[in-house]
Amino acid sequence: MLCYMLVTITVCLAQNSSPIDSRKKLSGIIHDNFADGAKQYKVLKSATPPDSFPRTYNPQTGKSVNSNSGWWCSGFYPGTLLYLYEQTGDQSLYNEAVRMLGLLQKEQYNKGTHDLGFMMYCSFGNANRIKPLPEYKEILLNSAKSLSTRFNPTIGCIKSWDSKNPSDFLVIIDNMMNLELLFEETKATGDSSFYKIAVTHANTTMNNHFRSDYSSYHVLNYDMTTGSVKEKKTAQGYANESAWARGQAWGLYGYTVCYRETKDVRYLQQAQHIAAFILKHPNLPADKIPYWDFNAPDIPNAPRDASAAAIMASALLELSQYTKSKDAREYRDVATTIIQNLSAPAYKAAAGTNGGFILEHSVGHKPANSEVDVPLTYADYYFIEACKRYKEMYK
Ligand code: GLY
Repeated sequence: MLCYMLVTITVCLAQNSSPIDSRKKLSGIIHDNFADGAKQYKVLKSATPPDSFPRTYNPQTGKSVNSNSGWWCSGFYPGTLLYLYEQTGDQSLYNEAVRMLGLLQKEQYNKGTHDLGFMMYCSFGNANRIKPLPEYKEILLNSAKSLSTRFNPTIGCIKSWDSKNPSDFLVIIDNMMNLELLFEETKATGDSSFYKIAVTHANTTMNNHFRSDYSSYHVLNYDMTTGSVKEKKTAQGYANESAWARGQAWGLYGYTVCYRETKDVRYLQQAQHIAAFILKHPNLPADKIPYWDFNAPDIPNAPRDASAAAIMASALLELSQYTKSKDAREYRDVATTIIQNLSAPAYKAAAGTNGGFILEHSVGHKPANSEVDVPLTYADYYFIEACKRYKEMYK
């Protein structure tokens, strides 16, 4: 095991240094990422109106873009502040996170979105892990109850998006990320209904959302009455039959969490199959930062998506711990390469720039020409999470 770890580090870092030197070098880079991230998030705080949530920043106009608490990304800013607080001990980051939680808490009753896992678990989940409080537990439970109202037993899924057509039931691969909140609430309360919804959603998605090569569609449209699949398509990817990079990352992360929480080997195998699709894809660049879609027509000139890379790195580090196969080494190698490359000036913003965001060069919604080649809160969140996971694996 130790040998595997050392070999991993050798592959990814400076060719002429020893494995231990390489590990120390990356640990130093990660230490700097936490310190630099803490400084950047103070810039981000000062650029954000006190009643708003940061969303992105336009490097061309120099304008920050903010949101209200109902935007699907509202949990990432407090979540990243909490990760950075844990790593730096800077109390002002914790205080800012807690202030934002006050603005976010009303979303516990929001039944109009499937994104409550992102919004409430990345924020209140981390807050409760760091300093458990009865009010956080209550908010997490109410959030899981609200999310569960979107589950339909005929279809076996949580509804992602509402549709004007009453016979439509739309589910996107991103929804796999909201299951962690449900697993957690069964552990917290003993109420198995949340767990049952999570595994049913994961099973239905495993049956229908994936192609034979284990790439995933973005959007499935189920028939409300029969539960059959009416359409398989995309919204944020290049084409219905393409592999949208962040969607592949959400699936990888989601099934890794499902295996952690259930120990059902089918989820482990699913995560490994998704990892193989990503890592063996001829369009995955050598630096392992994917293009925004694996089938983007203008590769190699297509924009990269740092957010997809960060999610993949965090997921691969976790997945590497669940397998003893030689794949584990590859997962760690690729995750290490991603962290190293996102930490370099090509992706990590210089101090005081980028509106206070840590990473540059993510893609939100390319077909809508929205948030293309910009910083995004979730890129920062999963990047800092990946750094934290690396630190915990190699301490
Ligand atoms: N809908 C979430 C995402 O853009 O990945």
